[in-house]
Amino acid sequence: MEEKKRSSFSGRIGFVMAAAGSAVGLGNIWRFPYLAAKYGGGIFLLVYILLAVTLGFSLMVSEIALGRKTKLSAIEAFSTLNKKFKFLGILASAVPVIILPYYSVIGGWVAKYMVVFMTGGSAQAAQDGYFSQFISAPVEPAIWFVLYIIATAVIVLLGVEKGVEKASRILMPLLVVLSVIIAVYTSVQPGALEGIKYYIMPDFSKFSVKTVLAAMGQMFYSLSLAMGIMITYGSYLKKDGDIEASVKQIEIFDLLIAFLAGLMIVPSVFVFSGGDESQLQTGPGLMFEMLPKVFDSMPFSNVVGAVFFVLVLFAALTSSISLMETVVSIVQDKLHWSRKKSSIAVLIFTIAVGMLSCLGYGPLSFISVFGMAFLDFFDFISNSVIMPIVALLTCLFISKVVGVDPIVEEVKLSSAFKREKVFRVMIRYIAPICIIAILVSNLLSYFNIFVI
Ligand code: PHE
Repeated sequence: MEEKKRSSFSGRIGFVMAAAGSAVGLGNIWRFPYLAAKYGGGIFLLVYILLAVTLGFSLMVSEIALGRKTKLSAIEAFSTLNKKFKFLGILASAVPVIILPYYSVIGGWVAKYMVVFMTGGSAQAAQDGYFSQFISAPVEPAIWFVLYIIATAVIVLLGVEKGVEKASRILMPLLVVLSVIIAVYTSVQPGALEGIKYYIMPDFSKFSVKTVLAAMGQMFYSLSLAMGIMITYGSYLKKDGDIEASVKQIEIFDLLIAFLAGLMIVPSVFVFSGGDESQLQTGPGLMFEMLPKVFDSMPFSNVVGAVFFVLVLFAALTSSISLMETVVSIVQDKLHWSRKKSSIAVLIFTIAVGMLSCLGYGPLSFISVFGMAFLDFFDFISNSVIMPIVALLTCLFISKVVGVDPIVEEVKLSSAFKREKVFRVMIRYIAPICIIAILVSNLLSYFNIFVI
């Protein structure tokens, strides 16, 4: 019965496109550049790439293989194999529930900027303070947020994700092309060289545990790992779909888009802020502050800006659809509600929780959670706390419960598995030890700050 119900991807390319659609999103374009700017530029980039090709690779292979082997989604995959690990499925499922609301707030910001450029507002958007004024307003960001999440919900409810995915097959390559053009443009501006150096050349004096934690959280986030999504996708993959090659392709695409986004945004801090390097610390607003300045200095600024934000909006939508799908199916499975009822419940919940993040920079800015605005807090708790824990427990689950061998065998059904050795060592030793070390040292430094 179960076998019959479970549909599968038409082929490996379909699988790669769907997984890449989930992976490539605001994480690459909005989150990666501001973290790279904040955590030392080149050193962050280096740590990020190293983590992606070792830990990220191993985890993604594990999750997809686990899904394909069990043909189950995250919660059941863990609990079916071992009752004691049921909580791990639940913990992993909590991640998309936390991310979806604030992700949609940022999706709303993207929609707003798209419309601003479409209506010829390039010069306005490029002014200092435009972004902070926008996000601290009481009503406007909330409207964009609600529109964005409703659009996501409508797509999920009507089941037209396929249409969006098809469109993004054309739009994502266009995003790459446009990003290259913008990055080249930024790179030839006076002052850019300094910025490119900052972004690409690792400065080891800027290395810290925080850099590693930030890079690790970003990697989970960007590759949609440590939240069960890839397990579910893997459960739809046919036995002859090459897992290793798929993971490689997804990673390359994901890294490429993140790298290009950084190349557009980080050097522009040096070009457009009159040498004020404190701008590197801007945080979540960096893309929205910097890109309008870049666009406004280009010919056809309104067209470039509008096209760019349309493309980013599509990238964001394919990711939020994948997040919402996951949350809706959790509600459906747990409460046995219809898809419609579950989707509406998730929509209402997301609006309620997302509103905190949305208004957290404006009317609710007097409230801070552990010293952070709501959006920053939700981002921190999911990426820097829960996801590393889920990743750690997934490694333990594989080495202690499932065994590394059955996973390797599963991968080998369809891949040569050239990186088998790296995989084994990562899952058994390096990944768990590193994650524990990073979590503990971060916790300690956090309490230090807290005590002082
Ligand atoms: N990976 C997506 C991004 O980079 C975000 C995302 C996370 C999507 C988790 C789905 C699940 O934007």
